[in-house]
Amino acid sequence: MTLVTVRVPAKVNLQLSVGPLRADGYHDLVTVFHAVSLFDEVTVSPASQTTVSVTGVDAASVPAGRTNLAVRAVRALAAACKPRPVSAEVQIVIRKRIPVAAGLAGGSADAAAALVACNELWQAGLAQAELCEVAAGVGSDVPFALVGGTAVGQGRGERLTAALTSGTYHWVLAFASGGLSTPEVYAACDRLRAGRPDGPGDGPPALDAELMAALRSGDPALVGALLSNDLQAAAVSLRPDLRRALAAGREYGALGAIVSGSGPTCIFLAADARRARDLAVSLTGAGVCRSVAGVRGPVPGASVVAAERG
Ligand code: C5P
Repeated sequence: MTLVTVRVPAKVNLQLSVGPLRADGYHDLVTVFHAVSLFDEVTVSPASQTTVSVTGVDAASVPAGRTNLAVRAVRALAAACKPRPVSAEVQIVIRKRIPVAAGLAGGSADAAAALVACNELWQAGLAQAELCEVAAGVGSDVPFALVGGTAVGQGRGERLTAALTSGTYHWVLAFASGGLSTPEVYAACDRLRAGRPDGPGDGPPALDAELMAALRSGDPALVGALLSNDLQAAAVSLRPDLRRALAAGREYGALGAIVSGSGPTCIFLAADARRARDLAVSLTGAGVCRSVAGVRGPVPGASVVAAERG
């Protein structure tokens, strides 16, 4: 194999329940991940030394060195391969459509794509469960980008169980100017909670059974009413302008309006594709965000879209 290209989706969280801060600096979570049709593409090919280049949305803010999550994923996969690949050096080219630091797990998506691409390039033959184990070491959201669809995440978010859903959901994503740092949003969440002992987050987080039933029913009105995100107040405290975007979406008829993950992207659920288009136009006109995208979910996780043999 001389060149492999993998397409990988962004994620949103339909539920994000955050438990207390753990000794290792992470928070125990219960989350419902949902992969949506906004994709990055990652191409890998053999090289004399590993390099990464990035084009597309927010390319300038993606680190190009060893700290790049895709580079870390390639190194982690090489270490997990038995036998190790003869050469584990690759040229990585990332074409971004998922904005950076947006609450959409774009960096994790690129890491997952790099794992799938190198598994194919090296003909390493790791099964998905093995790739998921490597992925969990790279970042909490990386395993989900491998599997896609809709799934419940527990632990740091890396322990996944597939969720049963019906139908296709139509979303509008409202992208903000600038990003939010995930650790900073978690820290803000901790600070807000410290002022409210016995508030949410003191006990272990629990899966919302009503949301799971709504997802099985396929009724977007039910799902929209049950979206929840424990990081939303923290994200809004750091970016008060998000309040306007959320309010505008509700005013224009969204069935649900919520911050995605640690933000600042806001997501709006529409009843169907036509209403999603109308909502996207209204949100653009209201000037409450940098840009919008209409997407659908669930979609599959990282998958090979092109492979060339030498
Ligand atoms: O796992 P990942 O490197 O993507 O996480 C980024 C940061 O987000 C962590 O360093 C931590 O501050 C925060 N985080 C957390 N609890 C989680 C997942 C992430 O506090 N379950």
